[in-house]
Amino acid sequence: MLSWDEFDKEDTEVAAKSTNAGQAAEATMDRLDSAGGAAALEARAVTAADSAAVARAKAALDSLDVAEGLAELEGASARVAVDEKRMINCRADLNQLVPFKYDWAWQKYLDGCANHWMPQEVNMTADIALWKNPEGLTDDERRIVMRNLGFFSTADSLVANNLALAVYRLITNPECRQYILRQAFEEAIHTHAYQYCIESLAMDEGEIFNMYHEIPSVAKKATWGLKYTRSISDPQFNTGTVETDKELLRNLIAYYCVLEGIFFYCGFTQILSMGRRNKMTGVAEQFQYILRDESMHLNFGIDVINQIKIENPHLWDAEMKEEASQMILQGTQLEIEYARDTMPRGVLGMNAAMMEDYLKFIANRRLSQIGLKEEYPGTTNPFPWMSEIMDLKKEKNFFETRVIEYQTGGALSWD
Ligand SMILES: [Fe+2]
Ligand SMILES: [Fe+2]
Repeated sequence: MLSWDEFDKEDTEVAAKSTNAGQAAEATMDRLDSAGGAAALEARAVTAADSAAVARAKAALDSLDVAEGLAELEGASARVAVDEKRMINCRADLNQLVPFKYDWAWQKYLDGCANHWMPQEVNMTADIALWKNPEGLTDDERRIVMRNLGFFSTADSLVANNLALAVYRLITNPECRQYILRQAFEEAIHTHAYQYCIESLAMDEGEIFNMYHEIPSVAKKATWGLKYTRSISDPQFNTGTVETDKELLRNLIAYYCVLEGIFFYCGFTQILSMGRRNKMTGVAEQFQYILRDESMHLNFGIDVINQIKIENPHLWDAEMKEEASQMILQGTQLEIEYARDTMPRGVLGMNAAMMEDYLKFIANRRLSQIGLKEEYPGTTNPFPWMSEIMDLKKEKNFFETRVIEYQTGGALSWD
């Protein structure tokens, strides 16, 4: 095990002798700064031992203009104060993570890391045997597995691309960006998980990954989401006007509230229902971990949207509210159509009508989470077990399979 104690010892002893506090420490720092600067310049001097290539590299650095380089960075060059931090259109330096303004974003980053998992940890043996057995599953059950792997295998790539190519640049807050980077990695793990299921079950990869072009109920959902990525992923796009700020807000509502908040829910419910009936338990366990990540993505997105509303109340006018509400209702309608397509008959103790109720219940939640009126009054949740699964801690695995605890087992070993 690597220990830093030995390396730290010398520095600690020197520091203990020379610093008390306040001015003494500052004077020491000034002295160290000037000594450090001189030492760095000395290291740059070309010596007889240097080859021509090393001498050229040293000479090239003589023309490096620090002021010019740093001027290209986003935000001002001063130390950052909390009050200057803003979710969008921030002018403070975005490379200074602290002081935090949005503690919730940092906490979600920590929680996301504590929930780390990898698809290969899940045992797929029983799924492979069941999938190969002609009597193992009904045609309706097979349809559900295929359609959902088809939708999700590309949907998580759409989300990841939207984050990395569009949203990350436009959210001007470092602690939120830190979470977005974590989320982007989780989306990569999700795509990996679907690929791992598809490969384990020896499915036709081309058929599954191209389903979002070929199957209308899958294609419509993908197309609906992509429409909102198009404008803001243009490198020339920038926020800063009412219209462009609203365009970013539309994108966040489309992806966090609708794609991750509604489009995933029919499929998650179907696959987890399968797992509860002891069928395709490996695939179901993968989906369970993904659902736990997704509920955190959703909550992060809702917090970001609400924070933008607080900081920019002029954006949240009657027109924008109507648009946001319509987006959520359109998404719900598309998901209802997906439910009908994936469940032409009752299966796994559920049917399309029950799923429709569930989706309306979810839609009401999404509307109220961003401060809009619920549009499906009186709807109740026909699948209360779904909320229980989402709230489960990893150590209480729903399917009682192997558990890896990254938080306690994550120490680095260099052996
Ligand atoms: Fe995902
Ligand atoms: Fe996600």
